[in-house]
Amino acid sequence: MIIFLLPLAAILVTASLLIGMGIGFIQLGPEITIVISVLIILWVCIAGAALAYKAPGIPSGNNGWIVALMGTFAFILVVTGGTLVGTKLLGHYVWAFDKFYLPTVEQPIDFPHTSHVQKGQIDCVFCHSTVDSEAMASVPPVEQCMFCHQVVGKDLPGVKKVLDAWENNQTIQWVRVHRMPDHVRFVHEAHISYFSEKDNVPASAVCTLCHGEVGTMERVEQVKELKMGFCVECHRDNGAPTDCTTCHY
Ligand code: HEC
Ligand code: HEC
Ligand code: HEC
Ligand code: HEC
Ligand code: HEC
Repeated sequence: MIIFLLPLAAILVTASLLIGMGIGFIQLGPEITIVISVLIILWVCIAGAALAYKAPGIPSGNNGWIVALMGTFAFILVVTGGTLVGTKLLGHYVWAFDKFYLPTVEQPIDFPHTSHVQKGQIDCVFCHSTVDSEAMASVPPVEQCMFCHQVVGKDLPGVKKVLDAWENNQTIQWVRVHRMPDHVRFVHEAHISYFSEKDNVPASAVCTLCHGEVGTMERVEQVKELKMGFCVECHRDNGAPTDCTTCHY
């Protein structure tokens, strides 16, 4: 009997582990999934060892320590899992800590905003030059990078790639991080001019409303969900139009 039940149990445990890991990966992201999975696998191994130790044919020794170990791991598992999931839910609903939900993208060249904004003190609008005049903010062409990198940082690996692109007359294929669905219309200019005038701040101080602190990011991530509710709520608060055709084609 046990010969059939054990493999069946093993298959069931493995299958639910894989499904659980899949769901965890989508819902919680890779780091958390790996931590939880490693803990589960460890716990299953110890449980297996304890079972084998108790199995008929094997003389049973003093296995109190195995039970203690299992208990400890079960405890760690529940506490870690509970904390991670709880923080995440709290973060989502209470602190709008949404960035864990949103993917980061792999760029052809690692472009750190930190080096440019914090160290280099370059203004957002210098590079995203149409942000206060057009719908699209735009990303600067290679030509504009050469403005500095003809001289600055020529031996940094990332900058070498920029120089290569320039010499070979290639454009850099940046991957879009923020993208509205096709049925949505968004206009940077209206937002930048409205809020920089209202709060009497430069254009670059307005970006944080929707993009967070890009200047502190090694790699740009979307930190706000930018769902319809977010847009409409702010429109309502500021007396901006909320009829459907404002934002939908
Ligand atoms: C106004 C000047 C300026 C412009 C324009 C500029 N950069 Fe830079 N960049 C810098 C400075 C300053 C650094 C820091 C160099 C250092 O740390 O020694 C830097 C560093 C870098 C690095 C290396 C980062 C690191 O820390 O390893 C990369 C890659 C880079 N820039 C890419 C670009 C690209 C792509 C563009 C065009 C979209 C661009 N830069 C435009 C000034 C500029
Ligand atoms: C030296 C030029 C430079 C400066 C200065 C700069 N950026 Fe960027 N920015 C880039 C480049 C190049 C990209 C595309 C690569 C990437 O996404 O990392 C980019 C990407 C972005 C994106 C993501 C666009 C997308 O695909 O959705 C945002 C948002 C952004 N920048 C905001 C800012 C803000 C806010 C500031 C000022 C705090 C700023 N940038 C300053 C060059 C610059
Ligand atoms: C009211 C919210 C909001 C503000 C404020 C805002 N953005 Fe954006 N940004 C967006 C949205 C939404 C998108 C995606 C647009 C799309 O897909 O059509 C976007 C896309 C971008 C992009 C990539 C696509 C493009 O338009 O070229 C860049 C770069 C960017 N923003 C930079 C900035 C900078 C720099 C500032 C500040 C000067 C800023 N944004 C202020 C909401 C905002
Ligand atoms: C932080 C507040 C805020 C957020 C968030 C916001 N908006 Fe707005 N939006 C405004 C204000 C205020 C105006 C009116 C500006 C004016 O009157 O010049 C406006 C105007 C607009 C316009 C009209 C532009 C024109 O002149 O044609 C569009 C389209 C728009 N927003 C789309 C969006 C979308 C889509 C989102 C979400 C991705 C969004 N907005 C998020 C505050 C916001
Ligand atoms: C201030 C801007 C804004 C206004 C006004 C607005 N929407 Fe949206 N809407 C969005 C954005 C941004 C999205 C895409 C993000 C998302 O799915 O929430 C969206 C998505 C949608 C979707 C698709 C939802 C989905 O799950 O794919 C529908 C349907 C929709 N809007 C209907 C409407 C209707 C009907 C109105 C008028 C009562 C309206 N919207 C007014 C910004 C707006």
